[in-house]
This record gives sequence, structure tokens and C-alpha cells, in this order.
Amino acid sequence: MKIVLTGAAGHLGGICRAPLAQMCDELVSTDLRDEIGDLAANETYVKADIGDFDAMLSLLEGADQVVHFGSIPDEAPWEEILHSNILSAYNIWESAYRHGVKRIVFASSIHAVGMHPKQQFIDTEVPHRPDTYYGLAKCFTEDLASLYWDKRGLETVAMRIYSASGKPGNRGESGVEMIRKRSVKN
Ligand SMILES: NC(=O)c1ccc[n+]([C@@H]2O[C@H](COP(=O)([O-])OP(=O)(O)OC[C@H]3O[C@@H](n4cnc5c(N)ncnc54)[C@H](O)[C@@H]3O)[C@@H](O)[C@H]2O)c1
Repeated sequence: MKIVLTGAAGHLGGICRAPLAQMCDELVSTDLRDEIGDLAANETYVKADIGDFDAMLSLLEGADQVVHFGSIPDEAPWEEILHSNILSAYNIWESAYRHGVKRIVFASSIHAVGMHPKQQFIDTEVPHRPDTYYGLAKCFTEDLASLYWDKRGLETVAMRIYSASGKPGNRGESGVEMIRKRSVKN
């Protein structure tokens, strides 16, 4: 089993590297930085731009799964979102398809459905309703993944992450902390 991890120098990629290395024979970590520190015994690091099709086609050769966490992680100018969050998606899904990759795990975001009113209960079936170019890119990638499943049989698991910061930075991020406090009080 060979896994390719994009965004390996980032916050979530950094958390996932060690457990992913334990789950596979070979982990290929990639990001824009020159290096990412100590590597696991079965891990290699490749500096690459996910917005570069040829680089992704070469990187994904022989991979069984891709964990796709590389992206600009919040709202940014359109040109940056287009390169790192939209073109990159095509590059990765098309390269994965050409190399017979079985599954892609994708870090989507709550921003794909961020314009649904906060008072309304939503589940995973609600229509896309992005709140930013960033959220729009997540919608695009989820739809691209759907196309590659329906037409090409390439499986994707898209996780709409709400917040994965170490410490809540605002009220919206503090749900877990609030639940913890409530259970301590009770
Ligand atoms: N952290 C959260 O709370 C949260 C919430 C929802 C979704 N997400 C998603 O999870 C993923 C990881 O988020 P994170 O918090 O670790 O972000 P991060 O910024 O720490 O990591 C993203 C990594 O992607 C890399 N990257 C950006 N553009 C690139 C390019 N063109 N080529 C190669 N690498 C590139 C960056 O260098 C960075 O290391 C992202 O897709 C983000 O949208 C995160």
C-alpha cells in the first residue's frame, strides 16, 4: 500500500503523517517547502506544486490512495484559489485516475455549505451553498470527485471539516469546549 499525502507541511498534514506512515508500506509526503523535518522510516518527501499537472502525474505513479490536504486553507484572492485549490483538484483526480488509484481522502470544508442559515439544521445532503471563493473551490472539488466516481469508478471520501484548530479561536469553533464544560458541570 502506497499513500501520497498532499499538504504534508501543513497543520493537519503534519498531524496525519505519523499515523498514515503506520497504515501503509510507503508514504510519499509532498508540499511546497524544501523539507519537512524528520521522516518516518517508510516516508519520502517530494517538494512539488499541486497546481502543476506534470508534477502530480509523476508523483501519483504507483499510489493506491491519496490523502489530499494541500490547499490554501482559507479565503484568498481568486487567482490563488484557482491555482492551489481548483486546478490542483483536476490535477490530482485526473492523475489518480490515470494511475488506477483506488481512493482519495479529501479535506473539504464547512465553507462549501456556509451560506445555509445558522438556525437551520443541515446534513450532508443539502445543496452546495458556498460562502467564499475558498468554499466554492471545495464545492468544485466535491463535484469533481463525484464525476470521477460516477464516470470512472475512482472513490473519494470528502470530509467537511468544521474546525481543526488546537484551540478554539471564536464562538463558532468552541462547540467541543462548551460541551466539555457542560459535562464537567453536570
Ligand atoms: N484546519 C482546519 O480547521 C480546516 C477546516 C476545514 C478544512 N480544512 C482543510 O484541511 C486541509 C489542511 O488544512 P490545514 O489547516 O492543515 O492548512 P495548512 O495551511 O496548515 O496546510 C495546507 C498546506 O498546503 C500547502 N499548499 C498550499 N498550496 C500549495 C500548492 N500550490 N502546492 C503544494 N502545496 C500547497 C501549504 O504549503 C500548506 O502546507 C486544507 O485543504 C483545508 O482547506 C482545514
